[in-house]
Amino acid sequence: MSIIALKVEGLSKHFIIKRSVFSKKIKIDAVKKINFVVKQNESMGLIGESGSGKTTIANMLLKLIDSSEGSIELFGVDITNLNGEAMRAHRKDIQIIFQYTHAVLDPKMTIEELIKEPLVIHQIVKEHDLDEEVDRLLQMVGLSILERKKFPSQLSGGQNQRIIIARAIATRAKLIVCDEPVSALDVSVQGQILNLLVKLKEELGLTYVLITHDLSVVKHMCNRIAVMYQGEIVEIGETEKVLSNPTNPYTKKLIASILD
Ligand SMILES: Nc1ncnc2c1ncn2[C@@H]1O[C@H](COP(=O)(O)OP(=O)(O)OP(=O)(O)O)[C@@H](O)[C@H]1O
Ligand SMILES: [Mg+2]
Repeated sequence: MSIIALKVEGLSKHFIIKRSVFSKKIKIDAVKKINFVVKQNESMGLIGESGSGKTTIANMLLKLIDSSEGSIELFGVDITNLNGEAMRAHRKDIQIIFQYTHAVLDPKMTIEELIKEPLVIHQIVKEHDLDEEVDRLLQMVGLSILERKKFPSQLSGGQNQRIIIARAIATRAKLIVCDEPVSALDVSVQGQILNLLVKLKEELGLTYVLITHDLSVVKHMCNRIAVMYQGEIVEIGETEKVLSNPTNPYTKKLIASILD
């Protein structure tokens, strides 16, 4: 029987914003009562136009923001209302890989310090094993151990994205949410990073939720796909079925526009 890595039920998020001190408050329904399940070792693609709520979902899954309604179960544990110390034990199980921008990695830290940080926070290995573990993780993500003393500014965008991936797997995360993991990278490097994600999934038995605008990425990486439109999941199913025979009008339009 397959294990359920993630179960999301009736999950919603609204933001209340005020455009100026004089204006009325406005409610934005960024995510509206969504439901989905991701089984262990699956990759679920999350696609949809800009502003459809994809990153908001990622932020709720990672508990970077609170949800307004609904529940999130991670490997059978309801984490919806877990915070602080209670969430600590589960936080290492789910990690996120953002689009690489310079803001993601602290420029004042060396590569070695950046990889040690999650290892120390989550007490993954003993202190005297830290150096060896950094080397092991660097090799796993295809980097030379000679990069240890460098700073992020001394590496390429692709190499920095590998560091971010190393930090995510350092915690022995079982579920990784990837939010546009390659869209900021040079096209020539994108394939290499995606192949690394595929390789790590096989080696470590990872489960992915992969947010992307790129249907070819979904085809290559994801066995299932959820299509978002204005905060709702309008279609969900096996990637091949959804792409070859979309039933929702928005999915049809989205696929046609991307394939044009
Ligand atoms: N902190 C916030 N405060 C107010 N509104 C927000 C906030 N974060 C997101 N939103 C709004 O919620 C909606 C969904 O945004 P979200 O970033 O999740 O979209 P997205 O699908 O990730 O888009 P993109 O493809 O451009 O990254 C948008 O209307 C956005 O303006
Ligand atoms: Mg986004």
